[in-house]
Amino acid sequence: MEANPRRVEHQQTDKGYVPVYTTAVVEQPWDSYSADDHATWSTLYQRQRELLVGRACQEFLDAQDEMGMSEHMIPRFDQLNEVLGAATGWTLVGVEGLLPELDFFDHLANRRFPVTWWIRRPDQIDYIAEPDLFHDLFGHVPLLMNPVFADYMAAYGRGGVKAHAIGPEALQNLTRLYWYTVEFGLINTADGLRIYGAGIVSSKGESLYSLESAAPNRIGFDLERIMRTRYRIDTFQKSYFVIEGFDQLMAATEPDFTPIYARLAAQEHFPAGEVQDGDRVFQRGNGEGWASDGDV
Ligand code: PHE
Ligand code: FE
Repeated sequence: MEANPRRVEHQQTDKGYVPVYTTAVVEQPWDSYSADDHATWSTLYQRQRELLVGRACQEFLDAQDEMGMSEHMIPRFDQLNEVLGAATGWTLVGVEGLLPELDFFDHLANRRFPVTWWIRRPDQIDYIAEPDLFHDLFGHVPLLMNPVFADYMAAYGRGGVKAHAIGPEALQNLTRLYWYTVEFGLINTADGLRIYGAGIVSSKGESLYSLESAAPNRIGFDLERIMRTRYRIDTFQKSYFVIEGFDQLMAATEPDFTPIYARLAAQEHFPAGEVQDGDRVFQRGNGEGWASDGDV
C-alpha cells in the first residue's frame, strides 16, 4: 500500500526515534483516505471494541456510541464536533503529528483537542511509535464527552502553560501525571478495574496486559507519587495507577501545583517498576519480562 502522501514521518537517527514536530492545524482531508485507510480503522475498531467490553470503563464505551463512531469508516471530525461541542464544548482540530509542548497545552486550555489526521499503515496495526488517528480519535476523544474528564483536560492544558514557564522539572512532573492518567490510567469500579487511558485502549496487547498480567504493579492514584515516577515509552508500563473516579482526579489536581513542584525538586525520583512504602497496592507485579533499563 502507498503511504499517505501528507503523512509526516518520524526520523530514525542513531539516537533512536526522533519525532518531527509540526504546529499547523489542518482541515481533515477526509476524501483523501484510501480504502485501505478505512479498512485499517475498521479492523482496529472492531478488534478493540470487542476486547474493551468489560475492560474499558463504561463511560468510554458509551461515549463512542453517542458520538456515532463505528467500524464502518473513519469518522469525520466535523460530525464528531457537533456532538462533542454540544456535550462539553470541546472541538477536534486536525494536526500532522506531535505538537511542541506549549502549542499542545494552549490547544487543551482552549478546549481544542489536536487529532492526527492520518492513520497507520496496515503493517503497523499492532504497534506504531507515534500517535496516529486511531490512537488520538479512538483512544482520547471519547472521554472528552464526560464533563468531569473534559474539565480535567482543559485544566491540564492551563497547568501545562504554567509548568512550562516554571521550568523543565515542573514540566517533567506534569508530564508524568499525563502519562499515568490520560495515557495509561486505570479506574476502580464496582465491577472491578477498568481502563480509561488512551495509550491502553488503543493497544490490543496493553489492554490485556494492563488488567490481566501478573507482571505490572497496580497502585492507587497518588498525585505526588506519580509526579516522582519515571515511565516507559517503548514497552508496556511496569506500574499502572488506579483512580477511584474522575472526580478524584479533578479534586486531586485542583490545588496550585507551584509549591508541589518546588517540594518535589528536592526529592528523588522513583524507577517505573518499584513499589513504595505507603502505596495502596492492588497488585504487586512479579516483574516478569521487564527490561532492566530504559525508564524515562
Ligand atoms: N492545578 C494545576 C496547577 O496549578 C493544574 C492542573 C489541573 C494540572 C489539572 C493537571 C491537571 O498547575
Ligand atoms: Fe496520546
